[in-house]
Amino acid sequence: MGSVRWAFRFGSWSPSRSDWLLAARCIQREEKERIGQFVFAKDAKSAMAGRLLLRRFVCEKMGIPWAEIRLERSPRGKPYLASPLKVSSDAGPEPSAWSFNLSHQGEYAVLAAEQGLQVGVDIMKTTMPGSSSVPEFFRIMTRQFTAYEWSVIQSAASEQQQLAAFYRHWALKESFIKAIGTGLGFNLQRVEFHLAPEALTQGLVLNQTKMHLDEEEEEGWIFEESMLDEDHHVAVALGLTDKAGSATLGPSPPPPPPPPATFTLLSFSELIASATPLTEEDPAYWDSFQTKAQAPQRQRDAHTSKSPPPVSC
Ligand SMILES: CC(C)(COP(=O)(O)OP(=O)(O)OC[C@H]1O[C@@H](n2cnc3c(N)ncnc32)[C@H](O)[C@@H]1OP(=O)(O)O)[C@@H](O)C(=O)NCCC(=O)NCCS
Repeated sequence: MGSVRWAFRFGSWSPSRSDWLLAARCIQREEKERIGQFVFAKDAKSAMAGRLLLRRFVCEKMGIPWAEIRLERSPRGKPYLASPLKVSSDAGPEPSAWSFNLSHQGEYAVLAAEQGLQVGVDIMKTTMPGSSSVPEFFRIMTRQFTAYEWSVIQSAASEQQQLAAFYRHWALKESFIKAIGTGLGFNLQRVEFHLAPEALTQGLVLNQTKMHLDEEEEEGWIFEESMLDEDHHVAVALGLTDKAGSATLGPSPPPPPPPPATFTLLSFSELIASATPLTEEDPAYWDSFQTKAQAPQRQRDAHTSKSPPPVSC
């Protein structure tokens, strides 16, 4: 069984004209158009990195020539491989089927893929809330976590550590939501995380954190947690799939835990190494990219590259 964990630091990527135009040629036309519509360069770069990570994975690990890869999205937005194989990110009935997922936030885009298990990944950067205080930010977010989770988050010694604990829990919840592919339609109070006793520090991959679903411990799921740097938390949810390839919920035996996998940081050259252009060069695409501001002013002021999570979620 295989595991892939890749990261690309788009936050420090300043693409040259030729890099950006090549990247744009190597993704599907509709994705190129979607990325072209982002107002901020940071968002365009993160989405571009995500598409390249996905295609590199399918090409190099699934052995499908770049030009034959056709990625589509589920009705809720989860990317899957539509052709040439009938194997998707919702996995397939074969035990060796690959499942994959993508996340981008802060400075990084990350891809996690696993054979035989359903995968969801989420990366969160620990940032101070933009306009409110930490207690006010937590108050707005009350409904996203259970009383037990809040007690853990708020027991951290400093506001910075409380925020780190908050984003760690957030990444865990999102990774699970992304593995099951439901997006916003899942009641987050149904899942409660009980953190691994060991401290999460850079260079470690923890897999002892447990999830409770409807107050029962879920043994069918494993959560790998790591830190790409001191303020980027990544959670990878790994779950058993049923015969139809969907993630299973409810009582099930624990999946055989894969060896904890660390993220490999790729350069742009590595990201694009196996790529084949799919479309003609489009010089106007660079002209448009060049006019984009890097990020919203308030993010640049705060020296961060992402906004806090949407308060309405
Ligand atoms: C897509 C969603 C599932 C995650 O989005 P996000 O955390 O803002 O963003 P991420 O960068 O982690 O993930 C985005 C990527 O996930 C993938 N994705 C999109 N929809 C998805 C879905 N339904 N399931 C799994 N993956 C999905 C895509 O690859 C997307 O990147 P792309 O559009 O560039 O291809 C989001 O729409 C959502 O519904 N989140 C739940 C919100 C919430 O209540 N969070 C509270 C947690 S405490």
